Amino acid sequence: MTLYRATVLDTPADPFIGGQLRCEEDAGVVVEDGVITARGPYAEIRRAHRDEPVVALREGMLLPGLVDTHVHFPQVRVIGGLGMPLLDWLDQCALPEEARLADATYARGVAADFVTGLVDAGTTTALVFGSHFASAVDVMFEVAQRAGLRVTTGLVVSDRSLRPELLSTPDRAYEEARALAERWHGNGRLRYAVTPRFSFSASDAMLESCAATFKEVSGSWFTSHVNENLAEIDAVATLFDGAHYVQTYARHGLVDRSSVLAHNVHPSEEELTLLAALGASVAHCPTSNSALGSGLFPLRRHLDHGVRVALGSDVGAGTGFCLFKEGLQAYFMQQLLGRDGVALTSAHLLWLATAAGADALGLAEEVGDLSVGKQFDAIWVLPETGDPLAVGLGNAKSPLDALAKVFALGATSDIAGVWVGGEQVAAGRFRRP
Ligand code: GUN
Ligand code: ZN
Repeated sequence: MTLYRATVLDTPADPFIGGQLRCEEDAGVVVEDGVITARGPYAEIRRAHRDEPVVALREGMLLPGLVDTHVHFPQVRVIGGLGMPLLDWLDQCALPEEARLADATYARGVAADFVTGLVDAGTTTALVFGSHFASAVDVMFEVAQRAGLRVTTGLVVSDRSLRPELLSTPDRAYEEARALAERWHGNGRLRYAVTPRFSFSASDAMLESCAATFKEVSGSWFTSHVNENLAEIDAVATLFDGAHYVQTYARHGLVDRSSVLAHNVHPSEEELTLLAALGASVAHCPTSNSALGSGLFPLRRHLDHGVRVALGSDVGAGTGFCLFKEGLQAYFMQQLLGRDGVALTSAHLLWLATAAGADALGLAEEVGDLSVGKQFDAIWVLPETGDPLAVGLGNAKSPLDALAKVFALGATSDIAGVWVGGEQVAAGRFRRP
């Protein structure tokens, strides 16, 4: 048992429907076997646990571990390829690098870089877009397990429109996916995600093979891309005889409560209605949408339709792992939408970066906030003395204001500790080997 003493901020209730930021200054949080078993004013909690060791995190703030609902592991080394729209960026930047992961030794180095990126950013749970190579996905699972992270990932499959070395067949895709799921799904904190790259690169036969895996691997997740870029959307409509983009997945039974579709920058009303009815989630990836010029995410329309939305970094089209930066960019984009935008507070941003992600991944019972009964997945935000963020926190007018400063100014270097299920996986410059 361990007792943590900290200022704790989290969003146990959805701020889009009236929930408030919860801030408890000088809180005591009791963790037993990785689970929070008590929390409250420190003095009270201490009286009830006089002999327990105390981890004093008095300065800065303790937040729930961050949840990234869309991030590509094979792209960590190509972050920052600016100046291209989606399809050019894939051809010139992402896919040549993804082809290199055919070499499992190369893939191991990439997986290590990727997991370091997640941990340093305070991301404790992620839905990770895998590789087209089963050997690389196997390595990804292994490295994620060693790091102690909650990772859902799988084999990326395609059978058209990409460079030939990234293509597979429906039968091979099914065999490889089942073998990976057999090995890793439900193993500790790991789960399998059925992952066609996007319907632009997947025939109906390939999507049907995905549907078989999705149905047969109980508790597996489904993820792909949707409605990201106007040229891509036109191409998909041509390939699928005018079907709308969501329908290309939904008609194979791939869209349900266990589905996360990335982007959805240009949805029709019909698609939003269908996503809401099926209970699927959308991963909003603001720095990626900005870097690729994909467009301004219609958050208001998603909320009005009741579609679940969470945040994704979309590394490597996104410009880094830091979900504070994604939150800030989401805020900027809603501001730029003027009357069509949603006025986001720091409570909305924290919700999108934590509890909304946990909900999108079906993990809301376990993680997403720091309530009693939840896993102790937490990050300690502690800027260096004199850093503008430290100055800002010292002069914040309210918890909401302090949290806004974290989103405006916070960076990976401000994360001084990371815990997953009560295990500390990083502390300052230390990372679990
Ligand atoms: N659509 C298909 N593949 C990708 C990818 O790697 N990144 C993004 N942003 N969109 C995609
Ligand atoms: Zn993506």
